[in-house]
Amino acid sequence: MPVRLLLLCALLLPGALALAQAPAQDFPLLRAWAGGAELDGEPSGPPPGSHEERLARGKELFGPTCVRCHGFDARGGGAAGYGMEPRPANLADQPVKFRSTPASAKPTELDLFRTITRGLHGTGMPAYADLPEADRWALAAYVRSLQPGSDAEPLAPTPPPDLDTAPRITRGGKLFAAEGCAACHTGAAAPDLAKRIPKRSRAPAELYATITLGLPGTAMAPRALPAGDLWDLVAYVRSILPAPGSQGIHTQEQEAMTQVIDSCANNL
Ligand code: HEC
Ligand code: HEC
Repeated sequence: MPVRLLLLCALLLPGALALAQAPAQDFPLLRAWAGGAELDGEPSGPPPGSHEERLARGKELFGPTCVRCHGFDARGGGAAGYGMEPRPANLADQPVKFRSTPASAKPTELDLFRTITRGLHGTGMPAYADLPEADRWALAAYVRSLQPGSDAEPLAPTPPPDLDTAPRITRGGKLFAAEGCAACHTGAAAPDLAKRIPKRSRAPAELYATITLGLPGTAMAPRALPAGDLWDLVAYVRSILPAPGSQGIHTQEQEAMTQVIDSCANNL
């Protein structure tokens, strides 16, 4: 087994196990994710408990679960993240990419809950969907408390009923070229969207947020377009993404994660 896998085996699973507090033999959702499944990031209801309780619990969980990659100070320097591309995020100084608020504001707890639950496909950021929902809310509250910026009203766009129809997809395709999306998204500087499971989600409202708010810290800038144009772009992007559950769109990181789970599961 490559050294990096051994490291992950030692570092990833015991932490997750300590958290599960049950004699978990496996991580079924993490395993499904590693095989390319796009997990549902939606919570069953609002966050439980008081904000202070969530913060305290989140701080307690961050140590055994996230520090190994994100570092003690959450600035991305954890040992298990060594050599990862992309590197683990600096959660303290750098606004997170996947959000429903502008980069100048804090993301919402729900934004972070979704990222923590679903992981980020094609990267070393694992899906923590196997953790209890309350713990994922706690981690979200803690990470939010580290993020720069003030509070802002999140976007909550409602997809139009004709979203995935041919006229919108055709218009969206033209905009994708005219707005310079196609020129950047060739697979070199930016992902070829047709060849990769999205990191975030194919959910319409989240694609809408990605396109209009941009992805802080990357080349993908915010874009103020009329809502109709944004939905056309969302329709087009959805039409070119690989079909959910596509075989053969596994990334190196997902392969590695599957091997980690396989090789460690026997020793748990
Ligand atoms: C095995 C390594 C690893 C572990 C463990 C890990 N992360 Fe990550 N995380 C990453 C990587 C790599 C990225 C950067 C992905 C990217 O830039 O696209 C990331 C990114 C993130 C982001 C930023 C996403 C964005 O929108 O920009 C958040 C939030 C996050 N991690 C939270 C957590 C939390 C909370 C935990 C613990 C429950 C955790 N991570 C555990 C590797 C890890
Ligand atoms: C200057 C280059 C550039 C331009 C122009 C650009 N993007 Fe991006 N885009 C990026 C990069 C880089 C990423 C990957 C960021 C990352 O994952 O860290 C990205 C990521 C994305 C994602 C994937 C998010 C995910 O969940 O993985 C979508 C969808 C997207 N862009 C749509 C668009 C659309 C639509 C346009 C045109 C309105 C556009 N982009 C214009 C650079 C660009």
